[in-house]
Amino acid sequence: MKGIVLAGGSGTRLHPLTHAVSKQILPVYNKPMVYYPLSVLMLGGIREILVISTPCQLDLFRVLLGDGSQLGMSIEYAEQRAANGIAEAFVIGAEFIGDEPVALVLGDNIFHGPGFSRILHREAVSIDGCVLFGYPVKDPERYGVGTMDERGRLIHLEEKPAEPTSNLAITGLYLYDNDVVDIAKNIRPSERGELEITDVNRVYLERGKARLISLGRGFAWLDTGTHDSLLQAGQYVQLLEQRQGVRIACLEEIAFRMGFIDAAACYELGEQLRHTDYGKYLMDITAENR
Ligand code: DAU
Repeated sequence: MKGIVLAGGSGTRLHPLTHAVSKQILPVYNKPMVYYPLSVLMLGGIREILVISTPCQLDLFRVLLGDGSQLGMSIEYAEQRAANGIAEAFVIGAEFIGDEPVALVLGDNIFHGPGFSRILHREAVSIDGCVLFGYPVKDPERYGVGTMDERGRLIHLEEKPAEPTSNLAITGLYLYDNDVVDIAKNIRPSERGELEITDVNRVYLERGKARLISLGRGFAWLDTGTHDSLLQAGQYVQLLEQRQGVRIACLEEIAFRMGFIDAAACYELGEQLRHTDYGKYLMDITAENR
């Protein structure tokens, strides 16, 4: 399965913070925001990634993540010239995706919860249609909203409904079989002129091939859309990391634990940052196995 991180958009709601820099590069406590969604794809075992962003921001991601080889991965880059919709990712990424299934994650979505890696792995290897992840929220009218039957099949889907019929928001992580490329190429732009991800998902729903997994209790899906929620996301990460002594979305550690790189390579990455707590942490977790 290939992976796409969509990190475009203009981030106007966070101006002036995002006037000169991409939202997905902003810090969430001690790491750039994009580390969090990228870590989700890595936990699903995905090693081939396409990062999509605006022409003027793409180089920031290149500097930050390189070609991915240091993490035992391959990271490529592509431009989205304007915010033409989330589903445009599959048109832009068609060649990259080839004939494989694909996972898409929005570059500003932060997930954290027990067993997530296992769930992603299980779903990725058996994908037939699409798999969406739902999260109960108090304000579903701000999101795509879904309803499922008792077997987990998606039976109803709406984008930002004025009167939501469910409180399950559709999160910004989507798994698809290879049909998604053709589906995205054939949907019409919405009134906003965007290729809407919800329209893609609706095609799968109509084919009876959309599943919705509710992440629910014990799971965190954090919002980064406002200054307050961005700060709270950072505080959440700070609290967990300090209390538990582990790191969330530490890409080098995940690459090591997923077997993308060995202990020696991970230690070496830590050594390059040995003057920081981040580097020391990498050296600590790999010192024994080197
Ligand atoms: O976060 C989950 C929600 O994301 C879903 O529940 C909705 O169904 C889905 O439509 C989307 O809603 P948003 O209102 O959050 O979409 P927004 O336009 O804000 O875009 C989400 C992220 O994707 C944002 O960081 C910018 C990026 N993006 C968006 C568009 C439309 C792009 O990179 N390119 C785009 O063309």
